Amino acid sequence: MGQEKEPEGEARGEGDPVPESGDTRVADPKDPLLTATLALLRERIERYPEEARLLAWMQPGLERGELCLPVVRGAVMRVLELMHSDEVDLGSLSLAVEADPSLATKVVGVANSAFFRGSEAALAVRPALLRMGLRESRAVVAAVALRSTVFSLPGFTERAEALWRHSALTGLACQALLEDHSPWDDSGFLLGLVHDVGRLVVLASAAELREGRGRAARLSDEAVESAMEALHAELGALVAHAWGFPKVVVEAVRDHHRPEASRDLDNVLAFGLYAADTIANLHERGWRPGSCPENDALVRDLLEPLGIDLPRCEKLLAGIEGGFAALASLV
Ligand SMILES: [Fe+2]
Ligand SMILES: [Fe+2]
Repeated sequence: MGQEKEPEGEARGEGDPVPESGDTRVADPKDPLLTATLALLRERIERYPEEARLLAWMQPGLERGELCLPVVRGAVMRVLELMHSDEVDLGSLSLAVEADPSLATKVVGVANSAFFRGSEAALAVRPALLRMGLRESRAVVAAVALRSTVFSLPGFTERAEALWRHSALTGLACQALLEDHSPWDDSGFLLGLVHDVGRLVVLASAAELREGRGRAARLSDEAVESAMEALHAELGALVAHAWGFPKVVVEAVRDHHRPEASRDLDNVLAFGLYAADTIANLHERGWRPGSCPENDALVRDLLEPLGIDLPRCEKLLAGIEGGFAALASLV
């Protein structure tokens, strides 16, 4: 990342993973979102010394408008661009997938899985996508593309895996909640899938710092978690912006822990994502509608503006669980 040379720490242990990460250009150094993120980062360096080593490591790159992220191959970038394009169709999606043999193999495998299987095996990308249909194809291709790249983080394998599960669950929940809210009826899954991508930026930076300098002992997991919690929404918005997502999506990612801060109070995307994230978090802790009056009330309030009551939420959750089980076994 171009940080200053520092004295060698402990040698890297044999077999320690080397994170495949790189600096992604995310914004112009004068971009207001970048400036606001930097101000937040500087404030935390002052106030939270335990996070300072990690945040100071991230600071120079961020000042140049660059972020540390696991490498996203060109073909995967093309797939991401297509995801939020109005012109996406099965032909363009299949061309983008075919350009990446590893992605193509996995997508064809998904189409031939028990969840989608037809009477005959699909042997190529296009028939595989045709079998799944455009909406499911978009979701499956995005999930496969991100799972094997951004959510694969040597050095933090378990944490990245947990984040993947949470993101997939949030994506499925967001898709279900926004299904009747055109024009966002096709946007929920991808939004949920990327909403916490800022956490991976912090993890990738921590992996780079630990791998490069052997300072695991001086960078606690608690410091990584608290830095992640504080900065991930802004960092995630920067990544979404760099990936070419529409402004309203970037703002939904930025505001996903405080949707009331969203400038546009009609921003159903921000409220839908907030509700989906909350439901995913509660579900991961064992909540179901009717199991806890306090959480029931919380969810009821969040879903009311979306026109969804608790019994409907319970039905949606059954579908979300089915989709998650399928997705978890497929990618
Ligand atoms: Fe979050
Ligand atoms: Fe989340």
